Amino acid sequence: MSLIDEIRRLKKERNAIILAHNYQRPEIQDVADYVGDSIELSRKAMDEKDAETIVFAAVDFMAESAAILNPDKRVLLPTLGARCPMAQMLTIDEIKRAKTAHPQAPLVLYVNTLASAKAYCDICCTSANAVEVIESLDAETVLFGPDRNLAEFVQRKTGKTIIPIPEWGFCPTHLLFQPEDVQILKIQYPDAVVMVHPECSTETQKAADFIGSTSQMCRYARETQAKTLIVGTEEGLLHRLRKDNPTKTFVLAYEGAICPNMKSNTLDRLYKSLKEEKNLITVPEPVAKQARKALERMLELKK
Ligand code: 13P
Ligand code: SF4
Repeated sequence: MSLIDEIRRLKKERNAIILAHNYQRPEIQDVADYVGDSIELSRKAMDEKDAETIVFAAVDFMAESAAILNPDKRVLLPTLGARCPMAQMLTIDEIKRAKTAHPQAPLVLYVNTLASAKAYCDICCTSANAVEVIESLDAETVLFGPDRNLAEFVQRKTGKTIIPIPEWGFCPTHLLFQPEDVQILKIQYPDAVVMVHPECSTETQKAADFIGSTSQMCRYARETQAKTLIVGTEEGLLHRLRKDNPTKTFVLAYEGAICPNMKSNTLDRLYKSLKEEKNLITVPEPVAKQARKALERMLELKK
C-alpha cells in the first residue's frame, strides 16, 4: 500500500481530517481534505463537527488556534518544530508596556501569535480580515502586533492610527520580496498583474495590483482577465494556483521565497503523527479561555 493510501486508511480509522495551509508541500495539499488560508482553516476546523482528530498541516499558531476553538478534538501538528518565527516576536512584556503606554487603545493581534499573547488581546485578525476587524472597533488608535507591514497596510486602508507592537515585527520569508524584482518581472511580462501578501514590505505592496491573504489571491487569480500573474508570497501557493488555473502562468516574484517552517511538514511526518497520534497540541485552559474570546470575536464578524 502506498503512503498516501495508508494515510487515507488511517484517516478513516481515526475519524480524522487533514487541513493544510496554502504553503504546504504539493503532496500534502493533494492528500488534504481541505486547503486554505488561516481564517478558512480555523472555520473549517470548527465546521467538521464529527471529526475526532484534526491533523493540522501548517505551523504552531494555526494548530494552537484550532485546539483552542475545538477543545473536544485532538489536534496534531505533523512536525512540532514547525514554528512561525513572527509569532515568537511579540513578548508578553512588550504587550504590557504598550497597554500601559496606551490604556485607551484596543489591542488587535494577528493570528500569527502564541496563545499566551492572544490571551491579552481584544480581538484577533488574519490577513484576510484585518481591515474589517479594525473598522469594527470604536477607536481611532489601535495597538496592533506583531507584523509591522500588515499594520501599515491596515493604517493605509482605514486611516486610523495603528501602533505596531513590537515596532519591527516581520515575516522573514515575505521580506525577501523586493520591489526591484517586481519591476524587472513587469518588464519581462508586460501584460502580467502583480499580487502580493500584506506581510511584504510597504514598498513591495506599492508595486502590486492586488494585496490579499493567500486565499484572496487564489480568488483574484481566478477572476482576473490577466493570463500571467506575478506572485509575492511563499512558493507553496503556486501549486494551488496552477492546479486551479491550468491555462494561466504564475511567476514567483522571488525564487527563494520558502518558509522553512511550513515546509518542515512532510508526508512521512504527517503519516507518523496520524499513526501514533503524536505531536498533540494543547493549550492550558486559563490561557485558552481568554484567547478563545478574541478568536471567537473575530469569527463572529461577517465572512
Ligand atoms: P494567510 O492567512 O494569508 O494564509 O497567511 C498566513 C501566513 O502565515 C502568511 O505568511
Ligand atoms: Fe510565519 Fe512567514 Fe512562515 Fe507565514 S510565511 S508561517 S508568517 S514565517
